[in-house]
Amino acid sequence: MQESRELWNNKIGFIMAAAGSAIGLGNIWRFPYMTGQNGGAAFVLTYVIFVVLIGFAAMLAELSLGRRTNKNALGAFTAVVPGTKWRYVGGLGIFTGIAILSFYSVIAGWTVGYMFKTIGGVFSHIPNAQYLADVFTGFSANPVSAILLHGLFIFLTVFVVMGGVSKGIERWSRILMPLLFAILLLLVIRALTLGAGVKEGLAFYLKPDFSQINAGTILMALGQALFSLSLGMGTMITYGSYISKSDNLVSSAASVAFFDTLIALMAGLAIFPALFANGLNPAGGAGLVFMVFPMIFEKIPGGMIFGAGFFILLSIAALTSTISLLEVPVSYLIDERKWSRKIAAIAAGVLAFILGIPSAISQGASDFFSNLPLIHISFLDFMNIAFGNYALTIGSFFIALFVGWKWGIKNAVKEVEDGNPVFGYRKMWSFTLRFLAPICILITMIYLAWTGNFF
Ligand code: PHE
Repeated sequence: MQESRELWNNKIGFIMAAAGSAIGLGNIWRFPYMTGQNGGAAFVLTYVIFVVLIGFAAMLAELSLGRRTNKNALGAFTAVVPGTKWRYVGGLGIFTGIAILSFYSVIAGWTVGYMFKTIGGVFSHIPNAQYLADVFTGFSANPVSAILLHGLFIFLTVFVVMGGVSKGIERWSRILMPLLFAILLLLVIRALTLGAGVKEGLAFYLKPDFSQINAGTILMALGQALFSLSLGMGTMITYGSYISKSDNLVSSAASVAFFDTLIALMAGLAIFPALFANGLNPAGGAGLVFMVFPMIFEKIPGGMIFGAGFFILLSIAALTSTISLLEVPVSYLIDERKWSRKIAAIAAGVLAFILGIPSAISQGASDFFSNLPLIHISFLDFMNIAFGNYALTIGSFFIALFVGWKWGIKNAVKEVEDGNPVFGYRKMWSFTLRFLAPICILITMIYLAWTGNFF
């Protein structure tokens, strides 16, 4: 017998939870680091275009499929077409959730560690940029703290997810995100007034150099858009299944996409001027923001308090994202395998913890995992690109085809029109899901395979 499914308390509750899922390390850690590695402004522009053109359409597709079927990431497919191979798309999403969670919580652990460092006064006097690089390298190469903090973060995630949907997730998302926004604004203002280097930083970030664009950067930008919006693995299918029929999916999706992109763009606006002002390399990789933010805080009166506050809030933003990552396998195990929520959360959490250990020791602690054979990147970078980019892109490709052709755009539109009778975006949405998104993804994938440059 089907139990009645828990629903979000109200529309704002859903938007806050979905925004909580979307806004996280993807905006503040991953976006600046990807931008720095992929040529700056041209990447930023491509990313924004993908958010508007494909991200928004894909989010609406996932939300409507979730709300229609009232199911988890895999069950949604089998509810529409039972017994077909489409369920593997859901299966890929569930595994991707665990895989992303595994390295994401390593970075979240660094955030927690940086909060303690800030409180401990490590950043109250910064002699030079090299000092920050040394602090980061020393910290991230320590296997004990990296694994412990990663474990702590998984533990917190499991703890919240065990409490159930609206009680657990909503409460966290509601109050704290506006505060994070306020500190980020402060960082932007301070970074823009640092003097020398700011202009150069702004040019790198905002003045596109189109010679930087190739199939690799296009796919990275698309992957970043999907990662940041929590798309391509069924998070929004799962979250959509908890939305009430009277809510307006279009305006909800639009506000989530808008705020998510705004936060990412602001993070970049703080990072790049500060980075150039201090003569750092924008392609510095996964440690980028950990080297730059402390530098800005040092130049703000009371910076230690703001800095500690920032890292606490960023940890919480990360937590509302890890919750949504874990919720995907957990709701599958509850719905389809009839597990209890508690056991499902613990089992999926343990799996993510174990899978995350190689990432945790891949920043210098283990030679093997720090520089993988053949591809010569760290295990963490490998997971980040393989699952954070490619798996989400492949997932979105199939979800778009599924909603556009298999479930059918007519049925999808009908679902969206519940709660939003005038749906002006209908034609464009249909075109995007059926043609634009799949063709775009296919062409860049083929081109990339041709050049053979996957990592
Ligand atoms: N969107 C989250 C972030 O930007 C990460 C995430 C990806 C969460 C995929 C759920 C699913 O931090």
